[in-house]
Amino acid sequence: MDVKIKVRRPLRELYTELADTYERTNRILTLGLDRVWRRKGARRAARDGGGVWLDVCSGTGEMAQTLSRIAPAGTRIVALDFSLPMLSYARMKSMAVPTSFILGDVKRLPLAEASVDLVTVSFATRNLHLSRDVLIATFREFRRVLKPGGRFMNLETSQPRRGITRALFHAYAAVVVKRLGHRLSGSRAGYAYLSASMRSFYGAGELAAILGEAGFAPVKITPLLFGAAAIHLAAKQAGPAA
Ligand SMILES: C[S@@+](CC[C@H](N)C(=O)[O-])C[C@H]1O[C@@H](n2cnc3c(N)ncnc32)[C@H](O)[C@@H]1O
Repeated sequence: MDVKIKVRRPLRELYTELADTYERTNRILTLGLDRVWRRKGARRAARDGGGVWLDVCSGTGEMAQTLSRIAPAGTRIVALDFSLPMLSYARMKSMAVPTSFILGDVKRLPLAEASVDLVTVSFATRNLHLSRDVLIATFREFRRVLKPGGRFMNLETSQPRRGITRALFHAYAAVVVKRLGHRLSGSRAGYAYLSASMRSFYGAGELAAILGEAGFAPVKITPLLFGAAAIHLAAKQAGPAA
């Protein structure tokens, strides 16, 4: 199934509009769960040791900061985003390990092949889903910069499997995220987009299959809140690119 949603304005423009209110709005809309889930995702991602960690679509830097707090000594973090206002907030955060910030697009990472140990992305994969093929190509780009044996951690909203839970989740996205998000942020377009992309994104099994198509194996899934979100932890095996 290829689930696409139309974005009338460039995403970068939308995030420029959302930057000032992004963290506060998220906190209210998720009742703080976004932080809990970032911490959980970071712990999973950090398990196999330090090195160079790349947090893409870093936004205001919450995941990069969470990672920095549990990173072993000697770890270096690179935080990348294509929105300057979002990245400016990230640069203001205090980081517990050396961190560099790159203004760039994930579709073409300005990093050498096999140069990083860990890639993370939180609450942004829906943005990268311009089509199934584009998403696979983007995951392949993550795989390119990972060293053999490197890991990719993806934290994103998902689709609850049970009908009733899924219906409740979609109602929450359609009403609370769209309307309250607009009210709290002042951006109608931003939260209309985020609400629609929550309802149309892949379930955890399908996203794991897409990661497999991009050459990651194995892929472990951790469902969160009855499947409303999920952590995917995927490995780059040594060997030729998929
Ligand atoms: C919903 S925010 C998530 C921010 C952060 N990861 C978090 O956990 O809150 C999505 C971020 O992805 C960035 N983004 C979207 N598409 C991108 C792309 N193609 N390249 C780089 N950054 C992108 C946006 O600028 C925005 O800061």
